[in-house]
Amino acid sequence: MNYLPEDEACKLFEEAKAAAAHTYSPYSHFPVGAAVLTADGAIFRGANVENASYSVTICAERTALGYAISAGNTGIKAIAVYSNTDSISPCGACRQFIIEFGKDVIVIFKNEQKLIQRTIQELLPFEFTKASME
Ligand code: THU
Repeated sequence: MNYLPEDEACKLFEEAKAAAAHTYSPYSHFPVGAAVLTADGAIFRGANVENASYSVTICAERTALGYAISAGNTGIKAIAVYSNTDSISPCGACRQFIIEFGKDVIVIFKNEQKLIQRTIQELLPFEFTKASME
């Protein structure tokens, strides 16, 4: 698999950690940060943004991707997700959101304190995408 070199993965994970500082999570008290690396090397951060109507909450990954896409980037190379716990990986809704931008997007996350890299397709096999409707 075409994962990121370890130092680049660590750097993106640190960006995700920094992004968590701007969480709005008064309900769960669970700060999450994400950082997107675009094909041309730009980095966009995002944090989770909660709502009194809980289901309206936006996860950190979707916030960061929203920033990247709306700044004109559709080439998404990687996304890192951070929380202050032993393990975190994107929720199911975020996996669906990420795979919209390519099966090879690299996802960087922590599992039992170790930094893991997987493609989004590895995290979401038998995916449903626009190709499924062709
Ligand atoms: N959350 C994320 O931001 N990303 C994930 O992948 C998992 C969950 C947020 C949503 C909510 O604000 C809080 O974590 C607790 O579920």
